[in-house]
Amino acid sequence: MSTVLITGAARGLGLEFTKQYAAKGWKIHACARNPESLIGIEGDIHPHKLEVTDYDAVKALAKELSAEAIDVLICNAGVGGEGSHAGQAFGSFDPVLWRHVFEVNSFAPLMMAEAFAEHVARSTERKLIAISSILGSLASNNGGRYAYRASKTALNMEWSCLAKDLAPRGIICIALHPGWVQTDMGGSTASLTIDQSVPPMVKTIAALKPSDNGRFLQYDGTELAW
Ligand SMILES: NC(=O)c1ccc[n+]([C@@H]2O[C@H](COP(=O)([O-])OP(=O)(O)OC[C@H]3O[C@@H](n4cnc5c(N)ncnc54)[C@H](OP(=O)(O)O)[C@@H]3O)[C@@H](O)[C@H]2O)c1
Repeated sequence: MSTVLITGAARGLGLEFTKQYAAKGWKIHACARNPESLIGIEGDIHPHKLEVTDYDAVKALAKELSAEAIDVLICNAGVGGEGSHAGQAFGSFDPVLWRHVFEVNSFAPLMMAEAFAEHVARSTERKLIAISSILGSLASNNGGRYAYRASKTALNMEWSCLAKDLAPRGIICIALHPGWVQTDMGGSTASLTIDQSVPPMVKTIAALKPSDNGRFLQYDGTELAW
């Protein structure tokens, strides 16, 4: 049986990842701040209460699951940054907002990777996935949303480093852009529905080979420029 661990599993893309892997018959460690909302979803779902910026809690969960092999670890939890796009425009620098956005989008995924690298290394698939964003791409940048963009650029660099550092353990590290998707974060005018984003991401993850290690891909497997 294959196992996936997903952060931010109770809402948006994370909830759909949970449902998709459940439908495939996988064992799911579904991490969420409010795991109660996962009750009633069919499948081999193991809910865990997890605030991703509580690093002691991340380490405690890794210890609790120390006997497990995790085939796919999806660092999905993220924040856009309160105050909307305007709050992140040039001229409105807000250090409190920046710290929060970096804490969730950049620091926590690296902590997850450190805490769970062994669990992933002992699995069959050995895949470490960061849900990043095209907004973190330096090559595609068109300005604005400073904190969110910078946090995802930092995340991309972390995954590029992990791809090198974890390659000897056979771990495939991928930064994955879900597209612009209709979630609470993406808003109702986003170009893709959740159904147009998550099932292709699950397929893209399933198709990953060791030679893909260190790539930045979008939901359908298309290569993106860092
Ligand atoms: N939607 C898009 O268009 C889009 C585009 C590019 C990238 N992304 C990325 O995709 C990922 C998922 O986004 P989404 O669209 O599904 O957004 P969403 O609907 O706003 O969901 C965000 C998820 O992250 C969780 N989360 C936030 N802060 C957390 C924390 N401190 N600890 C634990 N969980 C936390 C939330 O949990 P709670 O329910 O507890 O708040 C929720 O499950 C994010 O990394 C986002 O940056 C989204």
